[in-house]
Formats: sequence, structure tokens, C-alpha cells
Amino acid sequence: MTQWQKTDWRKKSRIQMPEYTDQDTLKAVESKLAKYPPLVFAGEARNLKAELAKASRGEAFLLQGGDCAESFDQFTADGIRDTFKVMLQMAMVLTFGAKVPVVKLGRMAGQFAKPRSAPTEVQNGVELPSYRGDIINELDFTPKARVPDPYKMLRAYTQAAATLNLLRAFSSGGYADMHQVHSWTLGFTEGDKASQYREMAIRISDALDFMNASGLASADNHEMRTVDFYVSHEALLLEYEEALTRVDSTSGAWLAGSGHMIWIGDRTRQPDGAHVEFCSGVQNPIGLKCGPSMTGEDLQVLLHKLNPENEAGRLTLIARFGAGKVTNHLPSLIKTVQEEGANVVWCCDAMHGNTIKSASGFKTRPFDNVLLEVQEFFAVHKTEGTVPGGVHFEMTGQDVTECTGGIGAVSDGDLSKRYHTACDPRLNASQSLELAFLVADELVSLRNQRNNAEPIRAAV
Ligand code: PEP
Ligand code: CO
Repeated sequence: MTQWQKTDWRKKSRIQMPEYTDQDTLKAVESKLAKYPPLVFAGEARNLKAELAKASRGEAFLLQGGDCAESFDQFTADGIRDTFKVMLQMAMVLTFGAKVPVVKLGRMAGQFAKPRSAPTEVQNGVELPSYRGDIINELDFTPKARVPDPYKMLRAYTQAAATLNLLRAFSSGGYADMHQVHSWTLGFTEGDKASQYREMAIRISDALDFMNASGLASADNHEMRTVDFYVSHEALLLEYEEALTRVDSTSGAWLAGSGHMIWIGDRTRQPDGAHVEFCSGVQNPIGLKCGPSMTGEDLQVLLHKLNPENEAGRLTLIARFGAGKVTNHLPSLIKTVQEEGANVVWCCDAMHGNTIKSASGFKTRPFDNVLLEVQEFFAVHKTEGTVPGGVHFEMTGQDVTECTGGIGAVSDGDLSKRYHTACDPRLNASQSLELAFLVADELVSLRNQRNNAEPIRAAV
């Protein structure tokens, strides 16, 4: 067998990627990017893989979240901080509530390219190419804005580098210190769950004070002062991915240097397609979106292509069927995984199967359907005796009104108030926190069920 090359995807059919008209500029941008430093180090990707291996066995839980599409215009330190903060809050709820370590993985620092359901968009009888994310073209509905521009890859790289830099600073510079658990309470996180969070924060700081006073743990304990925070994005624009792919000098294996984990979207997971080809050759943890059209046969082929060594932590299957559809689709894919003896993390993306058009014309997601899909995901794993390893949300720390429902009861009419997403609707901070409490409850109930099912040992 010939050795995998990072250019091999170019021999496959090119879908969901732009047709750049200016090939000279494209080549110039690619060679520039290829000389830039990678954004992540191979050792970090290996650490994430080891954490995900734990999630595959139920010893940890994956929390993956962030924007549907990062945007050049909405790039601010506050935006990054608030999303980071909500993820820390959610992780705290899960760790404290369900007593499980949480693997924190942002949809951040590279989540720029978007697959689209149609190649063009029509407004008032005018047809233009679809918007494909800020790394490719612009959202404005003008012919000029929709032309794919290779230079945008350089801007995306710079933004990703600056985002990652701030995330690393927050993670290790004191912001993520567990003693700060009170200060992560966002001003606008109102309602029931916010007070539940505050109560939890009091109990955590009491426990920390006790540990400190009794000498059980010093306040300087590294584990309490820092967090491991990883980043991920859909590896859709393969010119960008290829240019940042390098051989890791420690292992001699290829690493996609654009992020710790990359995933394959539900529209680009053809077993013989370019995206699967590219992801098969890099050592990073890989995500694979599994929508309602995925068959057991598709999955079987993909398991072998993407994880031939059956390495634990290498492959995360991100199920996104939609509320009411999980029981129809998930059990048969679980059966395939079991028949193959495959090591995977099962993760629930409760967003992408639940997108609807609201009466007011906005793309939205009813919060109840997001909740329901998470509950169905857990229920199936309970029945099957398998491990629900994580959740995947489109969310932001900003107080947006993009998904309807939740504690703040965002109505159809409210959607226009703060609808800022460049692509799909995101959960706001309160809705995200509410979900974290639900997931913690599900994890506790699963554990109780499994503990009760343990064979009773004879007393000695
Ligand atoms: C996404 O995660 O933003 C996305 C497009 O998902 P999917 O590939 O599952 O549709
Ligand atoms: Co999306």
C-alpha cells in the first residue's frame, strides 16, 4: 500500500468546497499558510485522544460546544471569554452533579467553513452563490461578497491563532481557577438554574476551603488552578487543512495542525469522498456526524477507514437525528459498532436535527426539542447497555435570542431582538446551563440504574 499523502484528497470528488476562480492567488495563499506554524502540538492531540478514550469507557464525559460559525465581525475578547465561561460552568455542573471528569472541547479557533444545503440562495428573485462561512466568502447578499476569496484563509488562521492564545491564557493564567467558581456566574444568567448554580458554587467553595484548611489539598494545587481546554472544528475546507498539516517529529505521524480535533460533517461523510480520505491520514481525534441517512453499512466502512487500528479515543460518533427520531436510528448504528467491536465515543448533537423555520421567518431550534433529543439519546444507551459519552451543542455565552424556549422563555416574536448567528441558531448562556443540569441528572440516573444492576455480592 502506498503511503498516505496530505494531498490525496485532491484525487476525490470535490464537494461542499468553493470553486476558486483565481488559482494563482489560491496557490500563493496555500504556500504561505504551509510555512506558518501549526496552531496545535501533536502531544496535545494525543492527550485529547487519551481523554476521549476515557469518555468511550464512561470514565469521563465530553462537552463539545461553541458557535455554528465563527465570524470575523463578531470577533471580540468578551465573546471568547463568555463562551469559555459558560463551558466552564456547564463542566462544573457535570463534574459536581454527576461526579464525572469533563473533557472540554470548544467549537472554536477554526470553526469557519460551512456546508450548505443548496449551492445558491434566492432573495427577491435574485440568485447568488450561498454563503459558506467567513473563511470562504461573505454573508452580505451582493455578488461581490459571495465570491470565494482565498485571502480569507489567512485571516481565519490569524483569528484562530488569537482565539487559541486567549483560551490558553484563560485556561492556565488563573481565570479557570476553581476558586473563581462564583465569579463565573454571568450577570444575565437568570432564573431557577442560575440560583441552582450559585448554590452549587457555594458548596464547591466550602469544600475547597475545607480541603485547604485541613491540609488535604493546597490552594496552589495545579489541578484546581488550571483546566485543559481543547478546540475543534469541521475539517471542510481542505486547502486550509492540508496547508496546516505537518509531520509530527516525535511520532513521524501526520497531524492536522489546525485544531486538536477535527470532524467530518453529515454532508461530506461519503466513504470514498475527499473529507474521509483527508481525515483518515491524520493522527488527531476525529469526529463523524451521523444523521438519519447513515446506514449500518456506511458506518461499518467508515469505522474501518477512519480507525483501522481500533484505537480508543480516535473516533467520536456525533449522532444528530432530531427529537423523536433517535429510537429509529441510533439502536441500529449501536448494533453495527458492537458487531465490529469498535471503540467509539457516542456523542449527542442535539442541535442539527432540530432546526426549523419559525413563523417570524428565522431559523430556530425549540429548546424542548433539544432537551428531548438528549433524553432520547440517554434512554437508548440505557436500554442498549452502552455508554453515552458526550454532548455537542451550538451555544454562546452571549445573551442571544436564537433558540426558542428555555427558562427565559424566548418566543418566536423575541427572535429578532438579538439574533446574531452567522449560520445556525445557538443556545444562550441560560439555555446552555439548563441543559447541563439535565445532562447531569441523566448521568446520575444512568449510574444509579447500572449500580442497581450490579450483581449482589455475598457478604463475607
Ligand atoms: C455543524 O455542526 O454546524 C453542521 C453543519 O453539522 P452537520 O454536518 O451535522 O449538519
Ligand atoms: Co451548525
